[in-house]
This record gives sequence, C-alpha cells and structure tokens, in this order.
Amino acid sequence: MNDSKKKVAHTIAEIKKALEFNDGRLVGLVPTMGALHRGHLSLIQRASRDCDAVVVSIYVNPTQFGPTEDLEGYPRQLDKDIELALGAGADVIFAPADDELYPGPVLTEIKIHELEGLLCGKKRPGHFSGVATVVVKLVNIIKPDIIYFGEKDWQQFVIVKKVFKDLNIDTKVVGMPTIRDADGLALSSRNRYLTQKQRRSAKALPAALELAHDMIKNGERRRDKIISAAKEVIAAEPSLELEYFSICRPENLIEVEAIKGEVLLAAAVHAGGARLIDNKVIKI
Ligand code: PAJ
Repeated sequence: MNDSKKKVAHTIAEIKKALEFNDGRLVGLVPTMGALHRGHLSLIQRASRDCDAVVVSIYVNPTQFGPTEDLEGYPRQLDKDIELALGAGADVIFAPADDELYPGPVLTEIKIHELEGLLCGKKRPGHFSGVATVVVKLVNIIKPDIIYFGEKDWQQFVIVKKVFKDLNIDTKVVGMPTIRDADGLALSSRNRYLTQKQRRSAKALPAALELAHDMIKNGERRRDKIISAAKEVIAAEPSLELEYFSICRPENLIEVEAIKGEVLLAAAVHAGGARLIDNKVIKI
C-alpha cells in the first residue's frame, strides 16, 4: 500500500478511527462528489489554512439524483482525486461505498420546506432533500467544527445553513467564492460533458449574469428589462436552453420585484446533456 492509500478511509469505522484524537484539534470537512477541479481545491486549501485536520469526502450521493439524471455517467476518478485532495492539503479522504452510507432502505430523510421548490428545486424534486440528508449524515460521522461549501451552488449553501440552524447542528458553515475558467465559465465537474462547441457557447451563462449585474450597477431597476436582456444573451447561443433566470433575495431565494439592497442573480441552462448553473450576488 503506498502512502496516500493509507490516508483513505472507506468505512465509517476507519474514518472515525482516523479522527480519534482528543487534543482539541479543529476539524474541517469539505464534502464533494469527486471529479475534483480547482473549485473543489480552493475549498480544501481554505480548510487546510483554517483547520488542524481536513477531511475531504468523495461520494457520488445517489439520493440527490433524479431518476433521469446523470448518476450512472457521473465522472468517477477516485485515485486521481485522492492525489489532488492530498496535494491541496487534505489529511484524510472519506470515500465510502453506497452500502456503507445507505446499508438498508432509507426510511428517514430531511425534508426542506419552501426553499426546495424554488430555483433549481423546481425541476429537481427531492434533490435538496438528498443533499441535506447526506450532508447531515457526513457531519454526524465526522463531527467537523467547520464545513466548507462553494457559493456556485448558492441554493445548496443557503439550504445547508438553514438545516443546520433548524436542527441545532453547531458546525460552522463557510461559503467560498466561485472559481472560474478564463472566459468566465464556473468550474464544474459537469463541464466535461460539453462538446467543444457547447463549451464555447457556455460562456454566455456568466456573460448573461454579468450583463444583468452591470445593468443594475448602472441604475436599471426594471426587473423585466434586466431579465429579457439576460435571456437574449442566452438565446443568442442555439446550443443553450435556459431553465430559469432569477432575481431574488440571497437569503431566502424569494423573487424580488423592487431591486434594492442585496439581490441574487441566479440562472440555470442546459447544453446538450449538461445542466449548468451560476449566480452573482449584488449589493445596491
Ligand atoms: P460537488 O458538486 O462535487 O461540489 C462540492 C463542493 O464544491 C460544493 O460545495 C460546491 O459548491 C463546490 N464547488 C463546485 N464548483 C465550484 C467552483 N467552481 N468554485 C468554488 N466551489 C465550487 O455539491 C456537491 O458536490 C454535493 O451536492 C455535496 C455537497 C458533496 C453533497 O453530496
């Protein structure tokens, strides 16, 4: 067994054993589904600056995928991910098998009211319930002091914070800025599904958000005008199909009519089989 393999726990017993120290060490957790890119690595690097022991979980969680979604095809590259995570500062990797985390039929899950039915949740029923449930399971196993999330998945970030508050989970939730490619496209494990042509078109997603952002910064306050201008940017790319473009409150995701204070611009598009999301928070 080489050295890096020793730092990988596949079972709950192994990860608990690896974290069996009673010296007040600050433990950080970065939950991921693997296929790691610079976005994930920025979370791990931050965790390793903040914490004494950093756990990275790598688990493609079946309960957050819908029946027609990409669970089977989701990229899996565990050996490469282990090297990347350790290189970015992880101390231990938790990579459980399905029957380790879900050994029997699941009778218990976290239900998310209100927030589940907005933005991405509209087209992905049960998704955030699956996310919240696996995150709480990971937190109960690892008991981190701090957990790290990317703000790219803004709705996930908001929901996790609310779940922890509602369920009195003390773990601190830290959000990290979105890491992007040079043309503005947010890094995502799903970008590898894109053909070269779709990849070129995909930059219209951050461009549409940028345009909406600039319009607001320049004084435009008419919601319809901003949304139609942003939609035009997406529509100019025939390989993209818009799922939603939202202007809402960052903390509760409720659509805003009057654009003032802090607002979240959030959008989802489909490019072939890939579903891409992005957002921007703007303070007026
Ligand atoms: P995954 O998509 O692998 O993302 C893991 C973490 O990396 C999430 O917190 C996500 O927001 C963050 N991330 C992804 N792309 C990023 C980018 N470009 N810049 C910064 N951070 C980025 O999100 C999940 O997995 C799952 O739902 C999970 C929380 C692991 C539960 O299964």
